[in-house]
Amino acid sequence: MINSSCPSHIAIIMDGNGRWAKQKDLKRTAGHEAGAKVVRNITKYCAKIGVKYLTLYAFSTENWTRPKLEVEYLMKLLEKYLKNELETFMQNSIRFKAIGDLSKFSKNLQKTIKDIEEKTLENSGLTQVLALNYGSKDEIIRAIKKLNEKKLEVNEENFESCLDTAGFGDVDLLIRTSGEIRLSNYLLWQNAYAEMFFTKTLWPDFTIEELDNIIEDFNKRQRRFGGV
Ligand code: FPP
Repeated sequence: MINSSCPSHIAIIMDGNGRWAKQKDLKRTAGHEAGAKVVRNITKYCAKIGVKYLTLYAFSTENWTRPKLEVEYLMKLLEKYLKNELETFMQNSIRFKAIGDLSKFSKNLQKTIKDIEEKTLENSGLTQVLALNYGSKDEIIRAIKKLNEKKLEVNEENFESCLDTAGFGDVDLLIRTSGEIRLSNYLLWQNAYAEMFFTKTLWPDFTIEELDNIIEDFNKRQRRFGGV
């Protein structure tokens, strides 16, 4: 790993699982399974190099429109992933948090999510944030409702405190795999000043080496945040 500083908050749109599977003449679900393994590797690596927040787009508010069997598979994979991951989280002092409207998930999955969040709460290294049934527009509307309920003055600080990502800080580095160049309703507020990287690599092929190269490029960019 490079010696220069690493971004505090990395967000990733993990795209291309389906195309990866198709290239290999496999079912789309095999692509998701392979993608879940990459999630583990990249998370452990980010924890090692000192990233504070890694926010991963695992299921969007629009993903429910996928074929029923694929949605069911993704739900099962998530449940399996979370249960298997607890050991890795504890060994690497990783805290787990989910963002998004979790109320649409089964009671079982909601319970597993809450359980892993609670068990890892005191871990002080990286926070792995999974965006689940997440859509930025939905998050913003929910935040506005909270702001109203709490009768808070409308300003940036109060608004941020009502977002699902409250306390995580803005995204420093956004990565999207698979060659698509769009945000797809992901962290619209939080990406205000993010440096963005789009790679053609499909998510299951994404490696630590490629992440290192992206971070190296990130460190060469001049971030002016609107100044000169
Ligand atoms: C995009 O690939 C990916 C997703 C819809 C979800 C991301 C899911 C994973 C990485 C695996 C599960 C993750 C966890 C944490 C268990 P796509 O299906 O849109 O690919 P395509 O655009 O090539 O069809």
